[in-house]
Amino acid sequence: MNTLLLDIWFLVPTTLLFLTPEAANSWWYMGAVVTSSSSSRVMCNNIPGLVTRQRQLCQRYPEIMQVIGLGAVEWTTECQHQFRHHRWNCNIMERDQSLFGKLILRSSRESAFVHAISSAGIVFAITRACSQGELKSCSCDPTKKGSSKDSKGGFDWDGCSDNIDYGIRFARTFVDAKERKGKDARALMNLHNNKAGRKAVKRFMKQECKCHGVSGSCTVRTCWMAMGDFRKSGDYLRRKYNGAIQVVMNQDGTGFTVANTRFKKPTNNDLVYFENSPDYCVRDRDVGSLGTAGRICNQTSRGMDSCEVMCCGRGYDTARITKMSKCECKFHWCCSVRCKDCIETVDIHTCKAPKGVIWKENYMS
Ligand SMILES: *[C@@H]1O[C@H](CO)[C@@H](O)[C@H](O)[C@H]1NC(C)=O
Repeated sequence: MNTLLLDIWFLVPTTLLFLTPEAANSWWYMGAVVTSSSSSRVMCNNIPGLVTRQRQLCQRYPEIMQVIGLGAVEWTTECQHQFRHHRWNCNIMERDQSLFGKLILRSSRESAFVHAISSAGIVFAITRACSQGELKSCSCDPTKKGSSKDSKGGFDWDGCSDNIDYGIRFARTFVDAKERKGKDARALMNLHNNKAGRKAVKRFMKQECKCHGVSGSCTVRTCWMAMGDFRKSGDYLRRKYNGAIQVVMNQDGTGFTVANTRFKKPTNNDLVYFENSPDYCVRDRDVGSLGTAGRICNQTSRGMDSCEVMCCGRGYDTARITKMSKCECKFHWCCSVRCKDCIETVDIHTCKAPKGVIWKENYMS
């Protein structure tokens, strides 16, 4: 369990995870502990798997731990959005958490993505909390003060500039502390992807300005720095996942090099991985695959969400369901929209489960 994710994950309030108590390990209850009034010493000592440095940070900044825990809901949602049409769909709501633990312990492309998006999510959540005045240890960026200049001329810094450097610094110190303990290949990979994730938030910082002066003449401008939507970081990291670079440890074990020399060397923005991914078609604990049995597929799509690809050639079941929806909406003067309730019938297709030998024979023929 020596991974970032398992360290962070238990901070999520369990009510948001829909976990049943009997399925949960003790550390899954941390969210409840975080939000209760128990002392931070008790809380931090009850989180298994933290290295000493992380435990110290936890005790010193308990309110940041809470921000990290709640932020995890956001980045897992983003991860699931990015992979909604894929066999691997970032499903970490699975009752059996050990399965996700398995996935994370591998060094696949998916593991690279999860490390990057979780690091990004932590930077984002902490930075936002700083701006909203929720944390004692940080506030808006103190360096964005006074006047400055850009291509459009002079302006004054005003308002709250997001303090991304604080978010990055805290995330790096806390998340990377684990990997810095033992510098094996996987730790190096995690450190690299964590960094790529943090940079994916900073990349979308933008300057926003407001014009002042007679009828918006913009004789005076005030500006501030703001983070972009987290979706932008998610989309960006998703593209980086597509172009992730396979690496191998170098001879002296101090770093890695690109596995296939025909490909370019990874930059700090690229995701790197060691191991090839399983096809995620069938459930296999050892490789961290949930399989696609029961997943909804799209009969008319030609992409990754098509029934052929999603179900790995096993075929699918179709169920006809009826649902109520609003229809024949009319605009009434003034001002309301009135609709009728219509009953709509739709077909839902779900992947069949594998049937061992019989399924294989069908598949081969
Ligand atoms: C299925 O795929 C088609 C083609 O890509 C798309 O137009 C349609 O909206 C998809 N249906 C659903 C339910 O996602």
